Amino acid sequence: MSPNRVCPPLGLPLLLFLLGCLVSSTGVLATCNVCSAVNNLTCYSSTQMQACQVNVLSTATPTDCPSGYVCTSDSSGVLCQPEDSASGIQADCQECNRCDETQTFACTGTQSFALCLGTATVQDSVGTCASGYVCNIDDTQICGLPADGVMPTCSYADDSTTTTASGTTSSTTAAPPSTSSASTYCAAVQSQGKYAVGYNAYTTCRQYIECSLVGGSWIGQTYTCPGSMYFDSGSNMCVSNMPSTCSTTATTTSTTPAAPTPSNPEAYCQAMQAAGYYPVGTDASTTCHQYIECFLNGGTWGGNMYACPGGLYYNSASKTCVSTVPSTCSNTVASLTLNGVSLD
Ligand SMILES: *[C@@H]1O[C@H](CO)[C@@H](O)[C@H](O)[C@H]1NC(C)=O
Repeated sequence: MSPNRVCPPLGLPLLLFLLGCLVSSTGVLATCNVCSAVNNLTCYSSTQMQACQVNVLSTATPTDCPSGYVCTSDSSGVLCQPEDSASGIQADCQECNRCDETQTFACTGTQSFALCLGTATVQDSVGTCASGYVCNIDDTQICGLPADGVMPTCSYADDSTTTTASGTTSSTTAAPPSTSSASTYCAAVQSQGKYAVGYNAYTTCRQYIECSLVGGSWIGQTYTCPGSMYFDSGSNMCVSNMPSTCSTTATTTSTTPAAPTPSNPEAYCQAMQAAGYYPVGTDASTTCHQYIECFLNGGTWGGNMYACPGGLYYNSASKTCVSTVPSTCSNTVASLTLNGVSLD
């Protein structure tokens, strides 16, 4: 909470310099839940403050700032002030859902985060912190412990909008066995449409899975093309000419494709729906060394898994193999998904 440069004592010639000093000392502090030792107050949200003790997560009831005022923190402590961008007075608790400087992740809740994949955009990704850990945008391991001075970047005020319609997700009626794995597939793909099933010219090449969203749940059904037609994923239709992706020598078994997982790069890339390089997992000793390249091949998503050379790790933001363990591979991270695919 200390100002990031020393301000000179007030003097007329120094007035402008002092203004600049105020701007720089408050502009960078968008902290949230950090207790000011000056007055034992913290910003609970951009418009609420809360009594606290340094490095202890406060449980005190938050107090609203007066209307038009925002919660700010600077060298004089935490206080409610009228927001004024001209003089650099900005609310705290504004870094939730923002990608960090390295564009690796964004905190999306006090204990959750999402990948940014080297962009400034929060991706369709859900990561959770290990039990008791909180997500902090400046933490090199993504999640840290309040007892170690790591406070959540997101406000607890924004966390309370979960546990609502959890009853509706379990309402998928027990599907017959042949379609249940199709529904698993669709739940993972999360995109309406028809999808090719396999590469065996005699069996799976003639089938497709149709995914649809029914009452908030993804439903999948396996169909077989009529007569001796083949499913063509380019036109999404049954055609009489065998697509080039179908093999008459293929011995690949599957009746339905496996749900997308990193160990199934084709289905994984179908879920990513964009060419490029993607991370495989969060295990520092195994999957953190690997990456998957996704590409579109004649209308079908293909994927190859690679391992970084030597003992290098794959960095999802720089999309390169690096020697430092990426933050996503720390044991403060409990789970991580990307586009619905679980990265282990
Ligand atoms: C803040 O809290 C600490 C610990 O309870 C206490 O020692 C300190 O005097 C308090 N400071 C102020 C300014 O109230």
